[in-house]
Parts: sequence; C-alpha cells; structure tokens
Amino acid sequence: MLYIGVDLGTSAVKLLLMDGEGKIHKIVSKEYPLYFPHPGWSEQKPKDWFAQSMAGIRELVSECDRSQVAGISFGGQMHGLVALDGEDRVIRPAILWNDGRTGEETDYLNQKIGQDKLSAYTANIAFAGFTAPKLLWMKKHEPENFAKISKIMLPKDYLAYCLSGSFCTDVSDASGMLLLDVKNRRWSGEMLEICGITEEQLPRLYESYEVVGTLKPEIAEELGLSASVKVIAGAGDNAAAAVGTGTVGDGMCNISLGTSGTIFISSKSFGVDKNNALHSFAHSDGHYHLMGCMLSAASCNKWWNEDILRTGDFAAEQAGITKLGENQVFYLPYLMGERSPHNNPDARAMFLGMSMDTTREDMTLAVLEGVVFGLRDSLEVAKSLGIQIERTKICGGGAKSPLWKKILANIMNLKVDVVESEEGPALGGAMLAAVGCGEYPDVETAAKKIVKVVDTVVPEPELAEKYEERYQKFKKIYPAVKGLF
Ligand code: XUL
Repeated sequence: MLYIGVDLGTSAVKLLLMDGEGKIHKIVSKEYPLYFPHPGWSEQKPKDWFAQSMAGIRELVSECDRSQVAGISFGGQMHGLVALDGEDRVIRPAILWNDGRTGEETDYLNQKIGQDKLSAYTANIAFAGFTAPKLLWMKKHEPENFAKISKIMLPKDYLAYCLSGSFCTDVSDASGMLLLDVKNRRWSGEMLEICGITEEQLPRLYESYEVVGTLKPEIAEELGLSASVKVIAGAGDNAAAAVGTGTVGDGMCNISLGTSGTIFISSKSFGVDKNNALHSFAHSDGHYHLMGCMLSAASCNKWWNEDILRTGDFAAEQAGITKLGENQVFYLPYLMGERSPHNNPDARAMFLGMSMDTTREDMTLAVLEGVVFGLRDSLEVAKSLGIQIERTKICGGGAKSPLWKKILANIMNLKVDVVESEEGPALGGAMLAAVGCGEYPDVETAAKKIVKVVDTVVPEPELAEKYEERYQKFKKIYPAVKGLF
C-alpha cells in the first residue's frame, strides 16, 4: 500500500509518497506566502495551505496506482491559531508559531495567573507563539472576531478538517496550545476558563497514529483517490520529524535545522523542566518529549543569503569558509525574537566583533555558528536536568549542508547521525499514516524498520575545544545586551 505524508511548513507544504516498506516514491513541494503585517507579526492564509496541499497531492499521485493509496497524515507547523466561524469560514489569517504580538498576554499568563499554575495545568508556561496567548490577544484586540469563533484548530488540523470533515487534533500538536493537560493527554478545564473558551470550540483529541476519518467523497473525486483513504491525526512537525528520524522511545535526540531550530528529546515517561525553559509535550509515539525551540534557524541563513547578500547559492557562500573555531564574529540569531531558552519576543539579531579584516565568509560562518550556539543554550538546559545525550539525529533544510553539520557536531559536542532521508516531518507523517492503517503495530516498530542511519559526523576534540571557548563567550552576549531590546 501507499501512504501520503504532508509536512505543512511555514514557507511551503512538502508532500511525500511512501510504500509500506518505507521506500520514498516521490516528493512534491508547493510554496505559499508568509505575511508580516507588522514587525514581529507572522500570518498565513489557511486557504493557501489547503489549495497548495490539494495541488501537491494531485501531483504526488499523478503517476502511481492510486488504488494503492491507503492513508494520509501530517506533520504541521505548530501553535498557529486557526479560527472558524459557525459556517466554517476562516475568521482571520492564522497567527503563526513565530508571531511575537502577544507579549502582554504572555506576561499576564506567566505573571498574573502565574507560572506555577500554568505548569501544573499544562506542564508548560506561556511563550508568545503558543496558542492560548493568541486567543487572549484576539479577545482583547478583535473582540468581534473572538465572539464569532466556533472552532479553534491548529494548522494541520485545518487540512484534516477540509479533507475529512473531522474536527480533530492530536496530542503532540495540542501540547503547544497551552490548553492541554499534557501529562493526562486531555484539555485543561482551568486553561479553557482562563482563555474564555469552551471544550465544544476545541477539536477532539487523538493520538497521532489514530484514524480520524476518511476522505470526503467530493475531495476523493477531486484527487482521483478512493473515498476509503484513511485520514490519520498526524503530529506537530517536530514530533513528526522525530518519527521520521527514529527519535522515539527513551532518551533519543533529534535536531531540526528548519525555519525554526529545535532540539527534541524523546522519553517514555512524563517529565517537566522545573524552570520550564524546555517545553514538555506529548510525543506522537504515545509517550512524551522535551523540546527547546529557537524561532529562527535556517531562516537566519536564508535571510543572510537571500535578503542581504542577494544570492540563492548557499553552497557557494559556504565554499570559501575555512576558519572553523577561529571566527572573531558572533551573531545572535534572534530575527523574530527568541523562544527557548530566553522567552523574549522583543529580542533581535545582531552581529558583534567585526574588524577591518572581517570578510563576507566570516559573517556567513558567524550566522551558521550563531544558530548552533542558540541550540546549545537549550542543550545546556537539558544537561542541567541530568539528561545525558551523546548523539543526535538531524533533519531540516540546514541538514543538507555538510559544513553546518560539522559545526553542529563540534559546537554541541555530539555525534550527529545522518539518516537516509532528511524529510523529517513529511516522512514521519507518512509513517504515522502507515501505523494508522495497520501496516505496523506501533510507531516504534515502524521507525525501527524504516529509518536508517547512513553516516555519522563525529566531533573533532581540538575543534570542539575551540568552540567550547567561543560558546562560553557567546552565552555572555544576550544577558549583556537584552536591556537594549
Ligand atoms: C515548535 C515550533 C516550531 C514550529 C515550526 O515549538 O514552534 O518548530 O512548529 O514549524
């Protein structure tokens, strides 16, 4: 049988067709616009997601035996607020995970309601990109829109709703709403009350590998697929990527260098970072995970190359870089504010340490290094909790750069296992579909069978030591400049 995985990303939707053995038959990608209506705001139109996903699925299945397609599932950008009215019309553009407009609401939740209570109700505290503060923002700034809300959902859930008519979400993605009692995998009555919403407005909760319905007949016809194709709940993109890289079960680590940068640690038991700097979320394998998320990772490199250097040839920009471990330039990667560990939507990026002999290569290298130093901040939090990590998987667009992987291995001082396919969330989505359709008994079995490590980048002691010194300096920069933001 064949399974479709949909990675509903921030710059594009990526669709992947996989067979029951885990062989990837085809990958299709379709872009859509991202809107920044004010500095620090970030929005997209759910209709664009759906239109491009439909176009993508049609293209994906155009050459295969369509009768073999059994299931479809998702890895979706997390935290976005999609609100529908009583007639299923999208009320306003979705407010995305990297939107920083909710500073006041986040402060209200963390300070007035209190971090202790939030953590007790949800296992997390408020961050600007999470969904609950966005609901409070809408209630205050767009009361007429807030009053119209009939359904609240996350980005990938909008696709599932349009495809199947099922108003559903999964526990991994729902964890990022600050509305879920993560430990018990159910909505938190306290949080619903704080946000002024009811359970009827929220989707039904599923595990990521559970079937939520089948394709609506009219959708099936449009796609040339059978109406018996199963729609499986899917996961937040990081939990889906973890499945796609085999980061399931206990103590495994995955780093994603996508638009955002994340470090994801899987665990069979529930646990909370006592300072809540790392998110404590439900995993799509039925268990739990901890995660640090930086808001701008590969997007820093994209911005630097495309918007500033005005080139699309990222590899050529990296080709002349030789000074690993000796760069005097630092870069703070906070183009959209920062989530983990600083929780400051007002933070901004900066370069530091240039001199007259600084080169273009030094600046490019500083960007690549700065992103990894930012991830190292979250790794340090994990270490402070007693979590021991020696190796990590890697996925996301940034994982395509051999130079960036080497920098990562040495700054993090971790062995980096490179898997056969870097298509983390799309592959994970297809794997969840395969589990939902009964091809595998559970997610762990699917991951063991499908995910293969093909290479390992090992830290080099001398370089890792140089980077250790650089990191000790890097970590002093944000505390020194944060008063400026
Ligand atoms: C995770 C997060 C991002 C988005 C990116 O908490 O906000 O990784 O999911 O799509």
